[in-house]
Amino acid sequence: MTPKVQVRAPGKINLALHVGPPRPDGYHPLATLFQAVSLYEEVLAEAADDVTLTIHGRGADLPTDATNLAVRAAQLLRETSGVERGVSLTLTKEVPVAGGMAGGSADAAATLLACDQLWGTGLGREELAELAGELGADVPFALTGLSAMGTGRGDLLTPVMSRGTYHWVLAVQAEGLSTPAVFREFDALRGFSPDGAARGGGVPGAHSGGGADVAGADSAGGAGEAPRVDPALLSALLSADPLVLARHLSNDLQEPALELRPELGDVLAAADRAGALAAVVSGSGPTVAALALDAPHAASVAGVMRAAEVAGEILTVTGPVPGARVLEHVHGR
Ligand code: C5P
Repeated sequence: MTPKVQVRAPGKINLALHVGPPRPDGYHPLATLFQAVSLYEEVLAEAADDVTLTIHGRGADLPTDATNLAVRAAQLLRETSGVERGVSLTLTKEVPVAGGMAGGSADAAATLLACDQLWGTGLGREELAELAGELGADVPFALTGLSAMGTGRGDLLTPVMSRGTYHWVLAVQAEGLSTPAVFREFDALRGFSPDGAARGGGVPGAHSGGGADVAGADSAGGAGEAPRVDPALLSALLSADPLVLARHLSNDLQEPALELRPELGDVLAAADRAGALAAVVSGSGPTVAALALDAPHAASVAGVMRAAEVAGEILTVTGPVPGARVLEHVHGR
């Protein structure tokens, strides 16, 4: 029997996403609160001579060559560990493509774990997390899952305690948004040039700090202040009360995403009319996450939003859920 490993990794939503001005390397310092949700990318890794990729589910038209993050993850692990074997990867995607939910990052995280097990590289979770960070800012979180604060580029994670299960309605758009394009629009709206210098001193309320911080007050600080996650959001997650959490959802990328995709305004309005507790664009969008009280309320909000025909697809999910995990490992002989 061919040795094989099956792994799944979750998509995420950002409960808060505060963004600072671009650094010289073009990345933006972030302070974000990730929650992993119950939409999964599944990777089946089978022993083979070369690295190959097949995609099922969403994104069947995505590239399967070395530009795909899953292929890059397998190759990076191979180079780092000195393994000379290949892998046949089969990806089954549930997370919206280019939807602001880190589906590609979940593919990379699942592939790292699957190949690590298949090849027996013996790398620990910490070494895998380091490789994850090299692949992309959101990849480390897809490995760890649950709830975490992300600083730096979003890849420096601090686990966050969260109580209870939250019920979300996701409005998924047929066409995704480019993350770099949304960050560029953010820079244009705030008067930042892409190399990190503020044009004309920036605009009122813009962040002008170079780094990202962990604790402290509200993120909309003045000159020199780093983006920060509001401690009230951390307390809200301990309350297990969606009514409390609803007051603390925020996203600095929502305005640029709306600028590029004005129809998202209709989605947010539809969520409000449908009785959602609050709604926010996830990450760089265009997926909108609407918070519900419980499972029956989520079903009701989803029904009303579906009837409003503001999105290609309306899904219900829960969070937080664990990060990448092995579902099956057949050792073969
Ligand atoms: O790291 P990842 O490949 O997911 O990032 C995609 C793009 O999003 C980056 O090339 C950059 O343009 C933008 N980005 C950013 N600041 C971050 C994360 C991503 O500007 N913290």
